[in-house]
Amino acid sequence: MALSVSIRVHPRSPINCNLSGHSITNGGNEETVGDALLEGAALLVPVTETARLEAEVLLAHVTGLTRTVLLAHPERPLTAEERARYENLLARRRAGVPLPYLTRKMEFFGLEFVVTPEVLIPRPETEVLVERALEKAPRTVVDVGTGSGCVAVALAVRLPRARIYATDLSRAALCVAAMNARRHSVADRIHFLQADLASPLRGPVDLVVSNPPYVAEEEWSSLPASVREHEPRLALDGGPGGLRVIRRLLADAARLLGPGGVLLVEIGADQGPNAAALARRAFPMAYIRILPDLAGRDRILEVIL
Ligand SMILES: C[S@@+](CC[C@H](N)C(=O)[O-])C[C@H]1O[C@@H](n2cnc3c(N)ncnc32)[C@H](O)[C@@H]1O
Repeated sequence: MALSVSIRVHPRSPINCNLSGHSITNGGNEETVGDALLEGAALLVPVTETARLEAEVLLAHVTGLTRTVLLAHPERPLTAEERARYENLLARRRAGVPLPYLTRKMEFFGLEFVVTPEVLIPRPETEVLVERALEKAPRTVVDVGTGSGCVAVALAVRLPRARIYATDLSRAALCVAAMNARRHSVADRIHFLQADLASPLRGPVDLVVSNPPYVAEEEWSSLPASVREHEPRLALDGGPGGLRVIRRLLADAARLLGPGGVLLVEIGADQGPNAAALARRAFPMAYIRILPDLAGRDRILEVIL
């Protein structure tokens, strides 16, 4: 969507923001946090059901204040620089950029992760994958397609004795993942590798865990625009039926896992039967299950050797 944004940033000058009919004007007075929240929320209504919350998050981000402080002090004036940055973020959010790419952070498994447009935004359903992995108490783990590093870092934080290898094809994603590992003081226990799946690694390992790209190519056009246009295609596109990477991952896991080893793979809600059938072919003697997410939808392929 093309936005026409005309902003003058002096706090005492009128601010006009021509975004589909909404206009922000301070009428010559210093604009306050309270005014900015009302205006920002109104601007975001067309793009999100949580407009007010998102306006608060964006304003907290530019002012460096908590949402609680913003709400407690609606009379606090905005500086010209804060106003300009807030306007810029509102315009980008209205253009469909997901909120975490604007604030550069996302919470996952109770930890804060840096996210950039080079990595998938961690999803709550992937926390189920981490919980299941923790139950296995593995000593050696391979996280395939680490992205922001959310799975590898969450496991490293909770499993202080584990040795973790985390791979990704994307060098840019690995940089973000390494930054997140440093941020949570686990960088010395995660080995990041730029690789196709787990190709450079040798077994045996206790656990292979992965949230691979699994969106079916045929469903690409029905993804929300905010995902399709802003998140990396390499992180999402799983080819025909969404199973292309999963099929290859099964072969890699069969090579890496030792006796009693476990494979955990996040899958799409409608991929359970096909993923289980592929797993039975790759692991004829294994115990294979499809586990649900918190909403009761098929979400994890579990293979126990
Ligand atoms: C769905 S994202 C998951 C990211 C992160 N693990 C998470 O759960 O949020 C998939 C990741 O796999 C990576 N990827 C895609 N194909 C790959 C391949 N053949 N080998 C290694 N990584 C791959 C992408 O770059 C992306 O970071």
